[in-house]
Amino acid sequence: MQFAPPAYIKHQALLKWVADIAALTKPNAIHWVDGSAEENEMLLAQMEAAGTLKKLNPAKRRNSYAAFSDPSDVARVEDRTYVCSKEKADSGPNNNWMAPAEMRTTLNGLFDGCMRGRTMYVIPFSMGPLGSPIAHIGIEITDSAYVVASMRIMTRMGRAVYDVLGSDRPFVPAVHSVGMPLADGQVDVAWPCNKDTKYIVHFPETREIWSYGSGYGGNALLGKKCFALRIASTMGRDQGWLAEHMLILGVENPAGKKHYVAAAFPSACGKTNFAMLIPPKTYAGWKVTTVGDDIAWIKPGADGKLYAINPENGYFGVAPGTSVKSNPNAMAMLHENVIFTNVALTDDGDVWWEGMSKEVPAHLTDWQGKDWTPASGTKAAHPNARFTVSATQCPSLDAAWDDPAGVPISAFIFGGRRSSTVPLVFEAKTWEDGVYMAATMGSETTAAAVGATGQTRRDPFAMLPFCGYHMGDYFQHWLSMGEKVKQHAPRIFCVNWFRVDEDGKFIWPGFGDNMRVLEWMVGRVNGQAAANETLLGWAPNYADLNWTDMAEMDSALFDKLMTLDAETWRQELVLHDEWLAKLADRLPAALAAKRARLGKALAV
Ligand code: GTP
Ligand code: SPV
Ligand code: MN
Repeated sequence: MQFAPPAYIKHQALLKWVADIAALTKPNAIHWVDGSAEENEMLLAQMEAAGTLKKLNPAKRRNSYAAFSDPSDVARVEDRTYVCSKEKADSGPNNNWMAPAEMRTTLNGLFDGCMRGRTMYVIPFSMGPLGSPIAHIGIEITDSAYVVASMRIMTRMGRAVYDVLGSDRPFVPAVHSVGMPLADGQVDVAWPCNKDTKYIVHFPETREIWSYGSGYGGNALLGKKCFALRIASTMGRDQGWLAEHMLILGVENPAGKKHYVAAAFPSACGKTNFAMLIPPKTYAGWKVTTVGDDIAWIKPGADGKLYAINPENGYFGVAPGTSVKSNPNAMAMLHENVIFTNVALTDDGDVWWEGMSKEVPAHLTDWQGKDWTPASGTKAAHPNARFTVSATQCPSLDAAWDDPAGVPISAFIFGGRRSSTVPLVFEAKTWEDGVYMAATMGSETTAAAVGATGQTRRDPFAMLPFCGYHMGDYFQHWLSMGEKVKQHAPRIFCVNWFRVDEDGKFIWPGFGDNMRVLEWMVGRVNGQAAANETLLGWAPNYADLNWTDMAEMDSALFDKLMTLDAETWRQELVLHDEWLAKLADRLPAALAAKRARLGKALAV
């Protein structure tokens, strides 16, 4: 086996770690990824030859590819995801746990020889701008070329990372294998994975990640959920900052006054859409700009305000539902240099997915390679089909998107997918109230995770699958951060774009029209927008929002969107109680007190 690390790597501990992992996993060769364009082209060509990637028609999508995963490997696997802290109690009821020693024994067995017949890639990457004081470095070892090509888009990846790392700086070691070794002469499949066994494992105290058996998304691109959320959330707890499942956007009014807001919505609940929002016609002179669409790292600055960076370098966005109507900015960035996964193919070598166009093509090849027609009765694209594209291709990219200092946050927004119960928008009266609302947020599950969809579950801060420690401690950390930044604490708002009518249709048009709600929120921050006091906090009256070009939204329909029904909320509180009871051993007193106040107001 060729090992020979390049001479530019001076980090002895890193070299030893790679040698140890190679000895365990027994690959055919080691490829030290440098991130160059030539290397990328070589890998893309190799994957094309292997059938992993299909090159799209360059006249339609220049330099773009489609990958199709194994049907057993299409989304995050929450029930196979573990946080192995030393003490079970520290991982909390929100995580699966196994004793670290026991998990290490399991992993050593699984990884022993798991890269036989494959190349092991060593990927140096930075989450956050390279060399920035807020960035953190990771090294991912993987036996998937698809992961290498994807990490090149999603992170700052390549040789320059080693310069920052020097001979002794810390890095997060992340080991990934598709879990399908090849015997001598065994022909590979287009999407190798392990159909039966998957493990996504985090050791928070030693800041290690081990992922086995899946090649898809957050299971395999370890800089994303595993590092930038699960490991980073524990770093943030220890070091006084926040790692959040949030988009970051800038909103500028015609007078040039600009605010940045960060919004947490659960997976496949509209972060990418909101981050790239194009305001309706009536908002001439307003600008919405994109800093990030999935993850925010947030730290107090020297001036006492909270500043956020997007640690990522690209978007791994949900394809279905994305159209020139719902997200024109996203469509514009998908013309070239994109890797699509699990979309459908048109007969002329382009991509298609449900919701991309009104007219449905008469014939497609579906994501499983089968002939498809509108009569097929199945989805042509997988509901969790995704695009992988560099942030620099986003037309609405904010000028400060990779400013190492981050952008100052004026407001936090929390939103779940709730067909009933939760009004379109309200503002929490205090930081504590806002933390309570975020902590008890519910949302209907989506195709972003394997399992039943459409079931309402608590997804506090949209972090249920991503918080690397006990949720009760996490709530306390949020309360403490509020105390730390005091008068600079951003306002907290809750939104729900997903309320439906008697026929099950969304009442709120959403997408670009979310600008109307955003304007009200920014108005509240500026002390200009009026509001009405309700059970949950401050809420707009019909007259407080701009309804130009939206005649269908009369005050009766608006009232329906804003309904706060006491009996429904008594039932909702039962769900809060069930959830909070699970965290009882570490539930902050301030949240229990808020629950009591809500109960009193509802006379329960
Ligand atoms: P992850 O990448 O999984 O973390 O999710 P995300 O929050 O970035 O998801 P994304 O923005 O891609 O959400 C896509 C889904 O949300 C699609 O089903 C969209 O149709 C739906 N969606 C987005 N915005 C709106 C909206 O304003 N109203 C409604 N009704 N649906 C929306
Ligand atoms: C999510 O599920 O929230 C995602 C996609 O952003 S993945 O990276 O696959 O987790
Ligand atoms: Mn996400």
